[in-house]
Amino acid sequence: MGKAYKVAVLPGDGIGPEVMAEALKVLDAIEKRYDVTFERTHANVGGAGIDLEGRALPETTVNICKSSDAILFGSVGGPKWETLPPDEQPERGALLPLRKIFGLYANLRPAIIFPSLTSASSLKEEVISGGFDILVIRELTGGIYFSQPKGIEGEGRDRIGVDTMRYSVPEIERIAHVAFQAAQKRGRKVCSIDKANVLSTSVLWREIVIGVAKQYPDVELSHMYVDNAAMQLVRWPKQFDVILCENMFGDILSDEAAMLTGSLGMLPSASLAEGTFGMYEPSGGSAPDIAGQGIANPIAQILSAGMMLRYSFGMVEAADAIDKAVAKVLDGGYRTRDIYQNKEGEKLVNTREIGDAIIAAL
Ligand code: NAI
Ligand code: MG
Repeated sequence: MGKAYKVAVLPGDGIGPEVMAEALKVLDAIEKRYDVTFERTHANVGGAGIDLEGRALPETTVNICKSSDAILFGSVGGPKWETLPPDEQPERGALLPLRKIFGLYANLRPAIIFPSLTSASSLKEEVISGGFDILVIRELTGGIYFSQPKGIEGEGRDRIGVDTMRYSVPEIERIAHVAFQAAQKRGRKVCSIDKANVLSTSVLWREIVIGVAKQYPDVELSHMYVDNAAMQLVRWPKQFDVILCENMFGDILSDEAAMLTGSLGMLPSASLAEGTFGMYEPSGGSAPDIAGQGIANPIAQILSAGMMLRYSFGMVEAADAIDKAVAKVLDGGYRTRDIYQNKEGEKLVNTREIGDAIIAAL
């Protein structure tokens, strides 16, 4: 008898259920090839949660997640729920509480450009020839987005807006460990981003990261100021392997890195808690403009399932196999509409067809 893992499956809204179906097919294929079982429990979230159970994150969904080893999340939101009060809307009402409830402090966003898709990028061909593979690791529960004091004080023109950037040693240590351990499984380089010439949090950040690095002598550590990093990402992205950032810097740089690849429907993400629990989801949203047509690109959702195997279940070989199968299918010219460029050798396919091709490649 092989291992069994419990997965909470939260498809959500729009293209969520369509792309989730393909990711679940990939998990079926992994079960057949490796001695493992994924016990899946489906739960409502986002607009689906509101419509069926009265709120974006129903209690039953939280309980299903609590009794699981990982969450596989689709996407939430859409025009139907946009008139609700902000805190009750699908994204704010489900994603933020999930991060809080499960302490998802480490956000991992790979920005991968596959060699056969380099022409989709906004960068010059010679800058990205051969593709690149960057992993942005963003601290997700601390820093300026959460620290107190925070707010607007006073009256009229005397008002003052206040945000506080604050990081403790343990907060920096735990995210640094995530970065070094991820680098050990990839290109063995960590570039830590800060603004240590101006910010005290950055001075502490740099000192602690240097300390943690001593436990990972096989990983090369470098430091870069955030303004320079924003520039270097567009100048020569191939210099990066793992990029380690605090919350706000990571928010900005991960979007920049994602856009360099030119294809939102391709990029997965992981949000990790202490231990092995994590939530895995595509970087994009619910794409209401193409929902229900069966043409969405399921690759981000499939690669998210791969990240779940890699980071929550320690199934590195199976995760690598998924990544390779996706690359092979792209090399074979299979393209959903979002990445189709009408070039020789390309085959325009729908959501199900590209999912089937990835399973065949596995
Ligand atoms: P979006 O990412 O849903 O769509 C942006 C554009 O990218 C659209 O043209 C869409 O068709 C395309 N796209 C995205 N994913 C794709 C895929 N897998 N295959 C093919 N094309 C794809 O972002 P947008 O339009 O700003 O937001 C739509 C809804 O999604 C909103 O309600 C928003 O709140 C929600 N959203 C949810 C997120 C989440 O669940 N984590 C994240 C971002 C947005
Ligand atoms: Mg952002």
